[in-house]
Amino acid sequence: MIDDNINYEYIIRYIRRTLKPQVGLIAELEEFAAENSVPISQPETIKLLELLIKIGNVKSILEVGTAIGYSAIRMAGAGAEHIDTIEINHDAAAFAEKSIKRAGFEDRIRIFEGDAREVLKELDRSYDLIFIDAAKAQYNEFFKHCMRMLKPGGILFSDNILYKGMTATDELVQHRKITIVKRLRRYVDMLCTHSELETDILPLGDGVAISVKGR
Ligand SMILES: C[S@@+](CC[C@H](N)C(=O)[O-])C[C@H]1O[C@@H](n2cnc3c(N)ncnc32)[C@H](O)[C@@H]1O
Repeated sequence: MIDDNINYEYIIRYIRRTLKPQVGLIAELEEFAAENSVPISQPETIKLLELLIKIGNVKSILEVGTAIGYSAIRMAGAGAEHIDTIEINHDAAAFAEKSIKRAGFEDRIRIFEGDAREVLKELDRSYDLIFIDAAKAQYNEFFKHCMRMLKPGGILFSDNILYKGMTATDELVQHRKITIVKRLRRYVDMLCTHSELETDILPLGDGVAISVKGR
């Protein structure tokens, strides 16, 4: 295993070679993210989201964690017609707004700037899919609002839940990450035992939980 990846590097490289290279604005955002250490979705993770949007005919999405707007733009490109996305960092939100305009998606993607723990309380739409991709220690706090706004039959997509493998084994846990890891473990347990959800954990990217809410 190389660095922090949860999968073998040769597997990741092989899968990434199968994905079509991005062009234009998307390629530019990927380059910007790599050069400036902005954590955006991994290629195989965003591809899975795009496929779920297409397979499930997903039209409305709530995203927690916009960063520079990369995933929101890709999800709109996959067919989502309405995306509400929340970002706490002002510079990231401003950058995302410009990128979304450049993509021509300003009528489909709405950015809410602020702490999702507060912003979520104010939202009351219902969504076909909710993508949680912000501070890992806060997933439990986002969850109850996400459940309230997720439509029956809707998909809850939680990213980074294996957290470089630390969620799965104490052997990898870095001491300063212990609180985050404990909270992520609690989050995963809750998803997997929740009476209204069916959940699968995939070792894709940094670990993804896909949950479907009962109808
Ligand atoms: C992994 S990045 C999101 C990447 C984005 N979804 C993508 O794939 O292009 C996580 C983002 O969540 C934001 N964030 C962290 N905690 C947050 C919170 N409580 N409320 C809103 N945004 C938060 C961070 O500032 C960061 O930009």
